[in-house]
Amino acid sequence: VSIRSVEEARRLDAADVLGPFRAEFVIEDEGLIYLDGNSLGRQPRRAAARVKEAVETEWGGRLVRGWNEGWYASPGRLGGKIARLIGAGPDEVVVADSVSVNLFKLVVAALRSAPEGRRTVVTDDLNFPSDLYVLKGAVDLAGDGFRLEVVKSEDGLTVGADVLASAVNGETAVLSLSHVAFKSGFLHDLPAVTADAKAKGALVLWDLSHSVGAVPVDLEAAGADLAVGCTYKYLNGGPGAPAFLYVRRGLQQRLSSPIQGWFGQRDPFDFALEYRPAPGITRFLAGTPPVLSLLAAEAGIDLVLEAGIPRLREKSVRQSKYLVSLWEESLAPLGVTLRSPRDVRLRGSHVSFGHAEGFRISRALIEDANVIPDFRAPDTIRFGITPLYTTFAEIHEGVLRLERVLAERLYERHTKERPRVT
Ligand SMILES: Cc1ncc(COP(=O)(O)O)c(C=O)c1O
Repeated sequence: VSIRSVEEARRLDAADVLGPFRAEFVIEDEGLIYLDGNSLGRQPRRAAARVKEAVETEWGGRLVRGWNEGWYASPGRLGGKIARLIGAGPDEVVVADSVSVNLFKLVVAALRSAPEGRRTVVTDDLNFPSDLYVLKGAVDLAGDGFRLEVVKSEDGLTVGADVLASAVNGETAVLSLSHVAFKSGFLHDLPAVTADAKAKGALVLWDLSHSVGAVPVDLEAAGADLAVGCTYKYLNGGPGAPAFLYVRRGLQQRLSSPIQGWFGQRDPFDFALEYRPAPGITRFLAGTPPVLSLLAAEAGIDLVLEAGIPRLREKSVRQSKYLVSLWEESLAPLGVTLRSPRDVRLRGSHVSFGHAEGFRISRALIEDANVIPDFRAPDTIRFGITPLYTTFAEIHEGVLRLERVLAERLYERHTKERPRVT
């Protein structure tokens, strides 16, 4: 059977052990092909039910009593669940703030504890721009000779562990990277990169935004020190869902948050006038958590735990290989290039394509073809695979529709003007 046949896609879906999870999500339009779960995951049905209950019963009925009936504990409770997805202990993760704010808290904490002589923060140019901004802001704030060193990718898609190893040395205070690169989908070799940097005495800080819920991560086995990540992509936590942070148990007493807020205080309801950090991971909280958003996010995290990372990764690998095969057969001849590593072991759960008309093509897909990918300037279209709900038939049909947009030049009717969010 040709991989191009819809029967083959249907056969793969029928044999999919994760297939039943699709029914856990709100799918209003069966004709819409949603390939943007790597940006904002679909809405879990349970999230809507949980938020309704929280609004009506807890907020509406229990009012301030809700704090002692689950709200106050929620950053740690969700942290404990995420910990199981990233190879951490329940006392090593909390949910709070945004990724950018958590990254700031952790990198500043790390720089404040850096030994004399270690004055560089090393990262790479595949990292998410917000991370680069935060890292630069942190070294500027720290002053005292701290500087940011950005390792350049030679092919624009990957940065090998050997290249990073030659950039990390006895002057490195922190190595901070995105585990999966937002644009190309390149997956760093987290264990190898961590081991090398640690052997040289640097702290290692991973951004797991594009890997949590899709790619196996074992922070403890790797000996990673610090990590941050978001919950609105593969964890399906909802728009603006709070992020998480991880601090290795053995480091928690040594590091402290530069945002000395009351939720990180040893006993906030003593209202002591002097700040004393809480003994464990709680010290990295700052202020009142967004309770409704936390409860909504918990529903999505629970679904990922039920499906299990090994099964999710296995399906994601098969689906991204399937997508790359379809690209080779039908999109490459139409001028679309592959902007992700060819080797599936080097990819996260999205596949990127390049075309000079990438922006207008993505507009035509959304507006004329009912396919939602996303666009990353200047010319990259990302197809996100979320194995909890993406089907092989959707990938198949998404490629057919893209083929039509290209063959019939449907994109030429669209303007080059970009909306605020792409
Ligand atoms: C890898 C990565 N890091 C950081 C961020 C920014 O996260 P936040 O908006 O929560 O600060 C994103 C957002 O998409 C991201 O993809």
